[in-house]
Amino acid sequence: MDTLLFNENNYDQLIQAADMIKNGEVVGMPTETVYGLAANACNPDAVAKIFKAKGRPSDNPLIVHLSSFSDAAHYTSYIPELAYKIADKFCPGPITMIFPKNDKIPLITSGGLDTVGIRIPSHKTARKLIELSGCPIAAPSANTSGYPSPTEASHVMLDMNGKIPAVIDGGKCSCGVESTVISFDNDNTVRILRPGFVTREDLLTLNCNVIVDNAILNEIAEDEKVSSPGMKYTHYSPDAKVSLVEGSFDDFAEFARNNKNQDTYFLIFDNDSLDINCNFLTYGNNSTEQAHNIFACLRKLDELGAKKVFVRVPDKNGIGLAVYNRLIRAAGFEVIKI
Ligand code: TXA
Ligand code: MG
Repeated sequence: MDTLLFNENNYDQLIQAADMIKNGEVVGMPTETVYGLAANACNPDAVAKIFKAKGRPSDNPLIVHLSSFSDAAHYTSYIPELAYKIADKFCPGPITMIFPKNDKIPLITSGGLDTVGIRIPSHKTARKLIELSGCPIAAPSANTSGYPSPTEASHVMLDMNGKIPAVIDGGKCSCGVESTVISFDNDNTVRILRPGFVTREDLLTLNCNVIVDNAILNEIAEDEKVSSPGMKYTHYSPDAKVSLVEGSFDDFAEFARNNKNQDTYFLIFDNDSLDINCNFLTYGNNSTEQAHNIFACLRKLDELGAKKVFVRVPDKNGIGLAVYNRLIRAAGFEVIKI
């Protein structure tokens, strides 16, 4: 089966995509964060096809996408008051909140957990698809498990061609990194399990406690219990071996001079200029730009045949924490301090 490429502006094709979802199929869907693999979250056979297409471990739960936060109560057994405040401020948008689930969400969708992540995407096509399908939509990022997330339809086609019936092209994703995932330690405390565009600082404006989970920046031991199964898997890794390099740009330039090689690439900021003859790509000058570009750059490096990549460490504040979190995982936690 060849995968069809639909255009988000073609209404007939959107209806066709929604029919596929109604019929238990999986469709590549644009969102404001990254592309997702969308299927009916309440249909275990459809959800099983997502796991198969991605090659995803069965204990890694899927996020359930709804068109309005007011629908969250249909699929959950408890929602703290604070969640409504967060939803008022940040939904629809790039945030996922984890609640105890009810029986409408099958265990295959929740990876066997008794909780479910709920997200209300803001992307107009994702919202339209949820509406036309008439069901909650389970959607992980549309990459092959372990590979960088897709931020363009062509990335999804590359990973999923022949594995799913259709991908909807909605252009480049505006955020470029996946949603912020939070859980509730208690009624006034949220825990960030995955950083994203809704930052710690944003959440603090609601006068709640905000904990940044230890696993966001640190490698976890094999036997350690994790709050989110995704934390224990290899992630975002291109075929090229990635290392982060932390230090001033002058030191980085010196490092590049000593480590340049035919198959080696340097991933630097747009304003950096390396006055040596070496392979390089740039990924933006500030955290928003870097978030927007990072996954496309990691994919591009493989396309260019890079074997080894040294990345200039991004700022770790605000949205930068999300960029750093993806990069440090892509690098298998290897940071070279210079
Ligand atoms: O922006 C996004 O969130 C994208 C778009 C498509 O919406 N989706 C996405 O899904 O990134 P995925 O499956 O690639 O990442 C979801 C992460 C995983 O690390 C998973 O372990 C965690 O969220 N997660 C989902 N449900 C959870 C739950 N009930 N408890 C703990 N962690 C959960
Ligand atoms: Mg993912």
